[in-house]
Amino acid sequence: MLLRLRMLAAQGVHPLDALRASRLQEEEPRDAVLESFDIEGVAKYMQASKCKNVVVMCGAGISTSAGIPDFRTPGSGLYDNLQRYNLSQPELIFDLAFFQSQPAPFYELCKELWPGTYRPTRAHYFIRLLEEKGVLRRCYTQNIDSLERQAGLSPEKVVAAHGNMDEAHVLDSVPERKVDIEDVRRAIFAGEEGWQALRQAHGGLVKPKIVMFGEDLPDRFWELQQQDLQECDLLIVIGTSLVVEPFAGLVGKAAPDAPRLLINREPAGTCEQRVFGFRFQLPEGDNWRDVWFEGGCDEGCHALAAALGWGEDLQRLESEAEAE
Ligand code: OAD
Repeated sequence: MLLRLRMLAAQGVHPLDALRASRLQEEEPRDAVLESFDIEGVAKYMQASKCKNVVVMCGAGISTSAGIPDFRTPGSGLYDNLQRYNLSQPELIFDLAFFQSQPAPFYELCKELWPGTYRPTRAHYFIRLLEEKGVLRRCYTQNIDSLERQAGLSPEKVVAAHGNMDEAHVLDSVPERKVDIEDVRRAIFAGEEGWQALRQAHGGLVKPKIVMFGEDLPDRFWELQQQDLQECDLLIVIGTSLVVEPFAGLVGKAAPDAPRLLINREPAGTCEQRVFGFRFQLPEGDNWRDVWFEGGCDEGCHALAAALGWGEDLQRLESEAEAE
């Protein structure tokens, strides 16, 4: 048991959550809400139940086909490729205290990921299509690349749970002092001289509003998440390892009879790892609503669009974007 707790802790699962989850695997089974536990089953459910409150949760996996590495995939993930910054632990790049003492690595990373360099993926356009079809309640993203907005999602449909580079502020300023994002972009692109000058000009470190470990999530996340998840009639989770809290906890908050679809290369967020986690890995009878599409985010989104008869609409959105 201890070994298992250690293993889960290494994946970011708190030991108390793991212990609680092992009890909660006993969650009372319900009648199946899906005809089949696959993409077709989800599509049939969406059509039959006239789904209109779909909540999407997404992570770095939806942007890898755009050329942005994810964080934790061994080898290609960002955390395996930060040697040049000489960090004792890769997560330090998003650590507030570390940023205050050594801002350079974070600014370098901002420069690499600055919006405008990358284009949205098929998975992003699929989420936009959900909005166009009038069924998207909200898209909760952990990504800081703003590709959901670039794909055309309306601002009110997106919750950037880990912030992004649309805005910047002076660290520890009360009341908060915002800094023009174009000034910040120029300073960061000018390297150390640039961001040191910006710091001088504003009397403190200026930080794009990316949520670091040690900072709270935006108010918008806390204001919307409870009701969105309680009222959702389908949860689609795409391209995330579901190890960072409190974001990952949203999975367990979905209404108990709302189907949940995970589109990801590997399983994530299962009930062995978290409270009310996915049950797609359990024998039939113990799972009444969860589906895992094992594969690429773009492929999974394409398959669901095709099963819904929306294949051409998705194609149109992508072609229009390419033509721009
Ligand atoms: P991770 O890198 O932890 O997880 C990405 C998941 O997507 C993994 O399970 C991959 O196997 C999967 N994946 C990658 N590419 C895929 C593809 N093309 N198709 C299908 N699956 C794919 O990224 P997140 O879960 O988003 O914090 O990480 C959460 C947070 O951790 C981030 O928001 C970041 C980091 O610390 C901040 O930026 C503040």
